[in-house]
Amino acid sequence: MTTPRTADHPIDRQFLDRWSPRAFTGEALPAETLLTLLEAARWAPSAFNSQPWRFVYAHRDTPAWGPVFDTLSATNQGWARQAGALVVVLSSTHWTPPGKDAPEPLRSHAFDAGAAWGYLALQARLAGWDAHAMGGFDRERARQSLGLPETLEPQAVVAIGRRGDKSVLPDALQAREAPNGRRPLAGSIFEGRVGPAASGG
Ligand SMILES: Cc1cc2nc3c(=O)[nH]c(=O)nc-3n(C[C@H](O)[C@H](O)[C@H](O)COP(=O)(O)O)c2cc1C
Repeated sequence: MTTPRTADHPIDRQFLDRWSPRAFTGEALPAETLLTLLEAARWAPSAFNSQPWRFVYAHRDTPAWGPVFDTLSATNQGWARQAGALVVVLSSTHWTPPGKDAPEPLRSHAFDAGAAWGYLALQARLAGWDAHAMGGFDRERARQSLGLPETLEPQAVVAIGRRGDKSVLPDALQAREAPNGRRPLAGSIFEGRVGPAASGG
């Protein structure tokens, strides 16, 4: 794969090769491949090894697909309809520590679920598929149609698919169908104490 992405410091190629395409072929994602992706997510680190991530998955052309797909924004529906599977990433806001009998709040639930999604996305690329996270979905609708209790927070819906030709996309999205870049590392890191550029933009 050719990509304009370059790293300022040496990293494994897989971090540059993962990106979020929208053009998918509509190919079904084999059930065992999805389990491989979720297995990678399972090995993410988490506070207290609490593993607060939960995943609701839906393969295309199955009864589970509609309720998840219908939560997506119209723009996201426009391209994600060609995905092979959708995965709703949830995080549990509470956990029960060993030796305790009541759940306690878990501050890091979103952080930990984010790590798990990152692992899933990298494993998808390694397996010849691509994963694209979406924050553009109706959280209340997801809560209702997926039967989520208060303690499970929907974080993102991930479309997983086989990368296709951008001509399948609506015109407005075709121009954006390429790997993007990153601001210089210096804009994100600070020695010892944050500088004025640390928040916002
Ligand atoms: C939490 C989250 C929410 C996102 N929401 C959307 C979305 O609703 N629609 C979309 O097309 N892309 C969405 N993206 C994709 C980002 O725009 C993309 O990851 C970012 O531009 C970096 O590009 P890359 O993933 O190709 O490296 C989202 C990504 C994340 C992690």
